[in-house]
Amino acid sequence: MSKNKKRNSSLSEYPSLSELNRREFLKTAVATGIIVVSSGCASQYAQNLTEQREAAATTIANEFMFAYISDSHLLARGKEHRFAKSLIKAVEDVNAMDPQPDFVFYGGDLAQLGLRDELSLGKEILAELKPKVYMMVGEHDWYYDMGEAWREFFGNPTYSFDYKGVHFIVLNSVIVEDYWTQSKMAPMERMLFMAQLDNPKGKPFTVGEEQRAWLSNDLATLRKDTPIVVFSHSPLYKYYKPWNFWTDDADEVQKLLSPFSAVTVIHGHTHQVLTNKIGNIIFHGLLSTAWPWPYAPQGIPKYTIQMDRADPFNQLDGTGWGKIDTLSNGNINMTYMPWTRNPLPVSYEKVVAITEPVHGPSY
Ligand SMILES: [Fe+2]
Ligand SMILES: [Fe+2]
Repeated sequence: MSKNKKRNSSLSEYPSLSELNRREFLKTAVATGIIVVSSGCASQYAQNLTEQREAAATTIANEFMFAYISDSHLLARGKEHRFAKSLIKAVEDVNAMDPQPDFVFYGGDLAQLGLRDELSLGKEILAELKPKVYMMVGEHDWYYDMGEAWREFFGNPTYSFDYKGVHFIVLNSVIVEDYWTQSKMAPMERMLFMAQLDNPKGKPFTVGEEQRAWLSNDLATLRKDTPIVVFSHSPLYKYYKPWNFWTDDADEVQKLLSPFSAVTVIHGHTHQVLTNKIGNIIFHGLLSTAWPWPYAPQGIPKYTIQMDRADPFNQLDGTGWGKIDTLSNGNINMTYMPWTRNPLPVSYEKVVAITEPVHGPSY
C-alpha cells in the first residue's frame, strides 16, 4: 500500500509544505530537461514550493486511473454481515482490476455509528487492497466520539497531495454547528441523530472557516492550470438541504476553486449516480457499497444521468463502486461500477456537452 508519495500537506501542518519528494522531483526535472541535476545537488531540490509545483503541473502526464469506494456503513457484526460482505466484494473487484489502479480513494461513512469496532473492521477489510488507500471521513464516522477513533486509525482528515501533476485535496465537509451540548445529548444519542437521513435537530454540513483558510493557503502556490481534484464527503454544492445533501459554505469553497481551469469534486454521502457542473467545477457523487439513497424529491441536476430506482428485492442493486480516469487535460472520466448493472461511463466530454436535462425533472 505504498506506491504513491506520502501525504504531504495537512491541516495540522498548516501552512502547507512541499508537495514533491526529493526522488520524484529530481526524476521529473531530469526527465524533462528543465533543470540539469547532478547527484547531491541539494540546492536545486531546495527550490521554493512554487517552482516545484510548476514543474509537476507542466511536465508530468496526467493520464492515470484510480478507484473509489465509499459509504460502507459497517456495523460491528463481523465479516458475515451483508455490509461487510459488500465492502469485501468492492476490495476484491479492485484487486482484480488489470491494470491495477494507481491508488484507491475511500469516500467516508466507513462506519455506521462511529464505533471503534466498526472502524477497526473497515480498516482490516481495506488493508486487503493491493494499491495504496487514501481515506476521507463521513458523518457516520465522526459523531460518536467527534472523530477520535477515526483520527487514531487514519490520521488527519484534511490534507492534500500531488500525483502525476494533479493536485488532490481531501476535506472534512461534515462539520456542523454544536446542537448537542446545550441539549446534553449523550454521544450515541448525537450519533443517532446524525445518522438519520432527515435529522430534525440537525444543522447543515460545512467545511468551516478553519479549513477554508487552510484550503486558500494550500491553493495559493498552485498555477491556475494545475488540475485539481477535491474529495469531500457531502457534495460541495447545495443539492437538497432536508437530507443534508448539502454543504452550507459551498459557495465560498467554490469561489476559492474558481480561478483554476480544471477542477473536479468527487463526493460520497449521496449513494447515487449524481453529476453536476457549477461554473468551472464538475461534481461527481459515488455509489455506496451498502445501499442506494433515492434522488432528492425536488429533482436532480441537469447533468445527471438518472439511475433507475433500485430493485428492493435485490440488496446489491444500486450499489457498487467507481473507476476514475484522469485525462491529459486534467479533467476526469467517471465510470460507475454498479454490481447488478452495466458500467455507466460519465465522461468529461459528455458532461460539458449537456445543456438540457438528461432525464426527468431538473432543479
Ligand atoms: Fe453514507
Ligand atoms: Fe454521509
